[in-house]
Amino acid sequence: MSEIDTIETEALNAIECATDLTTLDGVRVAELGKKGRVSGLMKTLGGMDPEERKEMGPRLNALKNRLNDAIEGRKTALEDAELEARLVSEKADLSLPPRPERTGALHPVMQVFEEIEEIFGAMGFAVAEGPDIEDDFHNFTALNFPIGHPAREDHDTFFMAPDKDGERKVLRTHTSPVQIRTMMSQKPPIRVIIPGRVYRNDWDATHTPMFHQVEGLVIDKVTHMGHLKGCLTDFARAFFEVDNVVTRFRPHFFPFTEPSAEMDVQCDRSGGNVKVGEGTDWLEVLGSGMVHPNVLRNVGLDPDEYQGFAFGMGVDRLAMLKYGMPDLRPYFESDVRWLSHYGFKPWLLPSLSGGLS
Ligand code: DAH
Repeated sequence: MSEIDTIETEALNAIECATDLTTLDGVRVAELGKKGRVSGLMKTLGGMDPEERKEMGPRLNALKNRLNDAIEGRKTALEDAELEARLVSEKADLSLPPRPERTGALHPVMQVFEEIEEIFGAMGFAVAEGPDIEDDFHNFTALNFPIGHPAREDHDTFFMAPDKDGERKVLRTHTSPVQIRTMMSQKPPIRVIIPGRVYRNDWDATHTPMFHQVEGLVIDKVTHMGHLKGCLTDFARAFFEVDNVVTRFRPHFFPFTEPSAEMDVQCDRSGGNVKVGEGTDWLEVLGSGMVHPNVLRNVGLDPDEYQGFAFGMGVDRLAMLKYGMPDLRPYFESDVRWLSHYGFKPWLLPSLSGGLS
């Protein structure tokens, strides 16, 4: 066997046996490095006669190429194996349940917000928001509560201290001011719901000084009470998860809508708790109406061109009804026992296809 063949056999064997990249590189240096065996043979080419050099040159070059290829191949295999081993050792098993003592819960109010957004989102409503601290114009005047109007007194408003211009801001008493902000910043057609916190000076089992509302507003060229009734009846059926629930619209008064109506849903109160969709009782669910022409004028819309409807609902009360919570005050007491009893799993988002609750 020639020296070339011996070198090749030994080198290929060493390459195959290298189990890590450092050893493999050692083989490369020993054979192909400056002082390596193959390089040593290359250097002898200079002292050969032309005939011999003509034969040995290509053989040595071919050997060099074969060894290089073998080293590269082995290198890739070792790197792949190394990556594979890292992937196995660094794997995080995301399917593990969270540690029970760290399991948070979604507050029922947040759950109901998400359910309402899911229902109206599917009907094509966008979500709009506005500030909790409002001025008199947005909270009252633009909504057609004239100065001195008795309805202003119904809201038990929290007033801020007067600013340097003598203006007294208020903690918004309802989400309706965001109707004004939306109509002043967007062109119709408008279809929004407005979730948010509202404030009134009230405190008992069913009233807290801060509570939550969802407002709705639709403005378009041809909008009428039929749209209002259809939209809100569909909402009630989706929200209470009862397909055939009957709704009733009862005349009412709100300064910013004309005509105005409160929507009731059919329910049964005989068993002590309220069952929606059965029986002969009625449960008030929300306020609504056709946007008052004065409100449209106040935001620069022509009531002969545009009409719309609006609605507002108390989220805390809806949550009490849907999830059977008798008292509103624990909502705000951060008692973990209450939260773990009434709370929702945060990763189970309500969806119309998968179920709301
Ligand atoms: N803002 C009213 C309230 O807080 C609720 C309401 C009633 C909102 C009728 C509306 C509506 O948009 O049309 O009592």
